[in-house]
Amino acid sequence: MNEQFDFFMPARIFSGKGIVKSSEDVFSHLGKKCLIVTGKSSAKKSGALKDVTDTLEKLNIKYTVFDKITENPLASTCCEGGKIARETGADFVIGIGGGSPLDASKAVCVYAANPHIINDGIYTEEIKSTPLPLVLIGTTSGTGSEVSGVSVLTRENGRKQSVSGKNYYAKYVLADPCYTYSVPYHTTVSTALDAFAHAVESYFSKKHDALSRKFSCIAVSEIVPILKKFTEPDCTVTEAERDILYFASLHAGFALNKGGTCFPHGMGYALTEDYALPHGIACAVFIPAFLNEAKKGDKDGYEKIVSACGISENELFKILNTLCHADITVPLEKIEEYRVRWSTLKNFKNSPTDFNADDGASLTYNLFGK
Ligand SMILES: [Fe+2]
Repeated sequence: MNEQFDFFMPARIFSGKGIVKSSEDVFSHLGKKCLIVTGKSSAKKSGALKDVTDTLEKLNIKYTVFDKITENPLASTCCEGGKIARETGADFVIGIGGGSPLDASKAVCVYAANPHIINDGIYTEEIKSTPLPLVLIGTTSGTGSEVSGVSVLTRENGRKQSVSGKNYYAKYVLADPCYTYSVPYHTTVSTALDAFAHAVESYFSKKHDALSRKFSCIAVSEIVPILKKFTEPDCTVTEAERDILYFASLHAGFALNKGGTCFPHGMGYALTEDYALPHGIACAVFIPAFLNEAKKGDKDGYEKIVSACGISENELFKILNTLCHADITVPLEKIEEYRVRWSTLKNFKNSPTDFNADDGASLTYNLFGK
């Protein structure tokens, strides 16, 4: 048995219901002023923002709320957040929300401490000063951003691109699944598919190791029975299932933190940008093809993860095909544009076989071409 692994995830995680209000020490030792980075609604609707501001007020910590983060956040918006952090003298940042606000808040911390980095400069400029300390509070069960050193932003040209490394980790994560209870049903399905894709892609990624595979197996064993339920007519999701999905998304995040994503995520970004497909569906729609590829290169690993899903291979594919139905048509010229764009994408290089941009273009044609 080869159990070698190398795991780096420096964020300290406190979990449990009510964890924000019982984490006064976390906030008080970080400073006296902070910037809260969030979107327009989920932080408020989930109750997370109120729990945070109540706690900060109790501790006499001054805060500014920067709530301009939209889906697929622009690097330039994060740069603006960094400027506000500097102007308000923030000692630390609190990111609240789904993947977009969490990823954005990581970038805000970098911009805040590095005024020489402007907008897309985050992709090229050297980070000279340590980013501001960051506390992350997730409100969806998909991103895994809480436990990864990756931030996916949108460039000025409209394309999504990630930045990553030791400067993009949170210092603390406060993990409370109650904040996911108000997430609409269709978003819960899409984010669960995202977490599933994280677990599966990182499992077969060239960077996986023994420990990351265990995290992937735990994640899929908890997510798949709920995905199966989602295929039933008039399905609803219980709070107990939301609890399971939230912690499963963190396990998938641990796997992702090591393995990273493969071609389904790389290709999925394009469908989200051009056809507004929810991120989880846009990535998971390519997972059946990804699994078929992975099976060719690693039959033993394939059998292990399908077994961890707790259902047959056929049933798994049927669930994915049902939940990932996307009613879009991608014209040939667009597919050709993607083929060129994908030819330099690192997600293909991280994939388990030699599946390349040409194969990705053919797959896109088979699924969505006309
Ligand atoms: Fe994702």
